[in-house]
Amino acid sequence: MKTSTGVASSLLLKLDSRSPTPLHEQLFEGIRARILAGALVPGLRIPSSRQLATELDVARSTVLQALDALTAEGYLMARPGSCTRVAPELPLLAEDRSAAAARALNPDERRQDRASRGPRLAASARALKPLTAGAPRLGAAPRAFRPGVPALDLFPTALWARTVTRVHARASTGLLDGGDPSGHAPLREAIATHVSASRGVRCVPEQVFITAGTQQAFDEILRLALDPGDSVWVEDPGYPGARRAVLAAGGRPVPIPVDGDGLDVGEGLARAPRARVALVAPSHQYPLGATLSLARRMALLRWAGRTRALIIEDDYDSEFRHRGRPLTALQGLDDTGCVVYVGTFSKSMFPGLRLGFLVAPPSLVDVFAAARAAASAPASTLEQAALAVFLAEGHFARHLRRMRTAYRERGEALLEALHADCPGVLMPRPCDTGMQVCASLAAPLSDLDVRDEAARKGVEVAALSGYFLGRRRESGLVFGFGGVRPETLRAGTRALARALEVSSRR
Ligand SMILES: Cc1ncc(COP(=O)(O)O)c(C=O)c1O
Repeated sequence: MKTSTGVASSLLLKLDSRSPTPLHEQLFEGIRARILAGALVPGLRIPSSRQLATELDVARSTVLQALDALTAEGYLMARPGSCTRVAPELPLLAEDRSAAAARALNPDERRQDRASRGPRLAASARALKPLTAGAPRLGAAPRAFRPGVPALDLFPTALWARTVTRVHARASTGLLDGGDPSGHAPLREAIATHVSASRGVRCVPEQVFITAGTQQAFDEILRLALDPGDSVWVEDPGYPGARRAVLAAGGRPVPIPVDGDGLDVGEGLARAPRARVALVAPSHQYPLGATLSLARRMALLRWAGRTRALIIEDDYDSEFRHRGRPLTALQGLDDTGCVVYVGTFSKSMFPGLRLGFLVAPPSLVDVFAAARAAASAPASTLEQAALAVFLAEGHFARHLRRMRTAYRERGEALLEALHADCPGVLMPRPCDTGMQVCASLAAPLSDLDVRDEAARKGVEVAALSGYFLGRRRESGLVFGFGGVRPETLRAGTRALARALEVSSRR
């Protein structure tokens, strides 16, 4: 009788004919796993293909296919006219066999073992481990009010698709052939023109290096700037991606408090005067939304100029000033060449594009170019070329203008809805730029508790206390409104109000 599971009693193997994995592959894997586990010892005679086929109730050709593959990979030895045996020389060390056998037979133990063993890591990698808890959940569809999500519903997808198709269709062999590791030249030019005009950044195209977004820019800059253990000023509360990049580069993040005037430069000088790098978002601090005051900008530049420190300016969303022209970048005030400006297309286009850029000070252009020469191109040349066309043809500037209006409307709608649905519990900070707002939470509510309760009700907000590296000085919620259409917004704030009610009863 044909069963769904065939058993080779002589080898303790089972096959499952209902599995989507072909039978010959199951047999291959089964024998291989038992050899690696030491259960089938070197030199052991393997039953004939005919016997195995009978035991497993499969065609002999299935068995032969598996045995041939095992022989080709060196697990089995087949001599003409003789039986097939487990190869006498296997890469597995004899003393590891019993442990390996246990691992092969016990999946739970195998999982645990993988976590506790494995190659030894650098201290910088071990420091990253505890941070995975706060890492973004990749792949999950964004819900109201996940911070950092742009208005993807308003992105001109058809226009972008046409631009990409046109560039692909007309691609020269030069474009198809790898590309410049520093970035596609026309894109570097278009970016230099754009940031000079719209952000007051002083640069020529040679200073612009294309990146796969902000995170890659941080990684690259920090790797060039830091020796192991060097201190880096990071905003507190601040962008978790910045701290992760510092730790990954072997640096020591030093939390510097942020207030209504942005990073407290005086505190930075007191806590870590010899830091090698300051990582700041001067135009729109994340997550509090403050702008670094002019006095502090000057103090920061003076400190960096005097100590030869580097300032990384994270300018992730300041294009979206709701009214008036965007604020001028810190880089535009830098006379000593200590600022590396970092921009991204994650907000102004869409995060999945994974394109951004850094603008190196003139004295560092050579070292960035040399670092790039040792790496591969940062992103697909065709996508870079399409983006260059998008900028040059004015589509990007038009899209930014539309987004500014949309974010103003969405931000105002959120503040009104919070006022109506959660009166007296949430105190929003001023919101004149970008696509998120931070609101303080009336004591004694715990922002972590409210966040979790809101999540249970289908609303995604971030807890302000999760953004602190040092002492948690404030409890609040961070709302992203960029991706939330005004007509769907009230459902979110009402659900949040219910979550606040539940939390306040605890
Ligand atoms: C403060 C800050 N900087 C930069 C970014 C953009 O990162 P990336 O360009 O790697 O997508 C974000 C995204 O949310 C951010 O919040």
